[in-house]
Amino acid sequence: MPGPTLDLSGQVAVVTGASSGIGAAVAAALGAAGAKVVVNYRGDRDGADQTAEKIRQAGSEALVVEADVSSEADVERLFAETRTAFGTLHLLVANAGVQQDAPADAMTLDQWRKVIDINLTGQFLCCRAAIREFLARGPLPAVSRATGKIICMSSVHEKIMWAGHVNYAASKGGVMLMMQSLAQEFADRKIRINSIAPGAIRTPINREAWETPEALAKLLKLIPYGRIGEPEDIANAALWLASDLSDYVTGATLFVDGGMTLYPEFREGG
Ligand code: BGC
Repeated sequence: MPGPTLDLSGQVAVVTGASSGIGAAVAAALGAAGAKVVVNYRGDRDGADQTAEKIRQAGSEALVVEADVSSEADVERLFAETRTAFGTLHLLVANAGVQQDAPADAMTLDQWRKVIDINLTGQFLCCRAAIREFLARGPLPAVSRATGKIICMSSVHEKIMWAGHVNYAASKGGVMLMMQSLAQEFADRKIRINSIAPGAIRTPINREAWETPEALAKLLKLIPYGRIGEPEDIANAALWLASDLSDYVTGATLFVDGGMTLYPEFREGG
């Protein structure tokens, strides 16, 4: 019998926040690997359409659905539309996320809540909807060894504290224990739940950190591997976590960060 591969034909994936950045690259990669992909977005319809077009050009199917992941009603509709279009789902990539940066003493309650609502509560609502669908549908071993798979998009800031970004770091720290607790709770039902923790990836969320040569030089001091990450670096990791090649992996955070979490400031000194 041939071993597992990265082929995702016959599988359906929901990717939240897939109109740009990491979500767009992950959705395109899953589509290229044969998955039918639900491309979720909130504001940027053009971006979502471009992601869907890439998936179709790669020979797979895509459905574009607008939904605010922090709204329970929107999330329920996102998964209902997924079932109507494609019957079920096999994979969730809970990716949608935002930053609202401010010094903590100046941070408004709105800035705090917005980030927690989208990055943490939004991931929970999507995970809950996906888990309900996996449990209701049951195993399909001919399609995938796991009954369902979830990838949470975390960050190096689930581990690295981040002054000026307390809402964001708290949301990602929350994602870490949410993911681990869910993985513990549903492993016996053959649902695999893992996180990817990206470092600095060239996307719109951190444009300020890379768009000028001066900013990029400063950023590179934090990255031992010597380059900024590209969205495809994350997409490649997501593909592996989605496939049966990682069938024995659950409750893990895969850091894809060029060594940012290796505390490079300590190479000399300490
Ligand atoms: C943040 C980026 C930041 C990176 C590394 C990510 O989670 O969204 O703004 O550049 O972490 O600090």
